[in-house]
Amino acid sequence: MTATEIQVREMLSLDDATKSSLVSILVSIVNDGAAVGFLAPLDPNEAEAYWARLPRADTRLVVATVGGTVVGTAQVHLAGQANGRHRAEIAKVLVDPAWQRQGIGRAVIAHAEAIARSQGRTTLVLDTREGDPSNRLYRSSGWREIGRIPEYARSSTGELHATVIYAKWDDPNP
Ligand SMILES: CC(C)(COP(=O)(O)OP(=O)(O)OC[C@H]1O[C@@H](n2cnc3c(N)ncnc32)[C@H](O)[C@@H]1OP(=O)(O)O)[C@@H](O)C(=O)NCCC(=O)NCCS
Repeated sequence: MTATEIQVREMLSLDDATKSSLVSILVSIVNDGAAVGFLAPLDPNEAEAYWARLPRADTRLVVATVGGTVVGTAQVHLAGQANGRHRAEIAKVLVDPAWQRQGIGRAVIAHAEAIARSQGRTTLVLDTREGDPSNRLYRSSGWREIGRIPEYARSSTGELHATVIYAKWDDPNP
């Protein structure tokens, strides 16, 4: 797929059709075993309640479409602390399993980073489960591995897994 076929934009509010697509994507990704904060089997009502709270002033929402179909999403969490107004976290990078490996993940992250920078956020952080394909995506998108936290979150299978912390910042000596 060419980059021009993927439309990526920030959504300042969620219409019902987009919300419904995001519910489906979240449910299928969680039920496929991804580590994105929920446990399988994910109740669609829980997913619906989650998306109903978004976007917010401190949680900016990126949505990717191809030909009008919602295929992926990412979030920018703007730190609210007085000493952290230069910082943001990129989170919930999700691509519909049917649309993965076509550059959508890379596109939504790039857009999320652009939103963060447009808000003056020069230090960016994210984390992802150790061993997941997402690690390759982040490493190849200029993110630096900072370290790992063992036993960080529980997988749907019940076992605890490590998370890998990544960051990007304006480094005068890259
Ligand atoms: C991680 C995720 C967002 C990647 O989305 P995607 O649209 O498939 O990613 P892209 O097509 O942009 O891939 C970019 C690069 O990431 C790496 N990558 C992505 N998925 C991969 C996989 N399954 N296996 C190996 N490498 C993979 C590759 O290096 C790829 O580049 P290439 O295709 O040129 O080799 C997607 O797999 C997903 O939604 N996973 C479940 C949710 C999740 O774990 N999100 C991260 C939580 S922080």
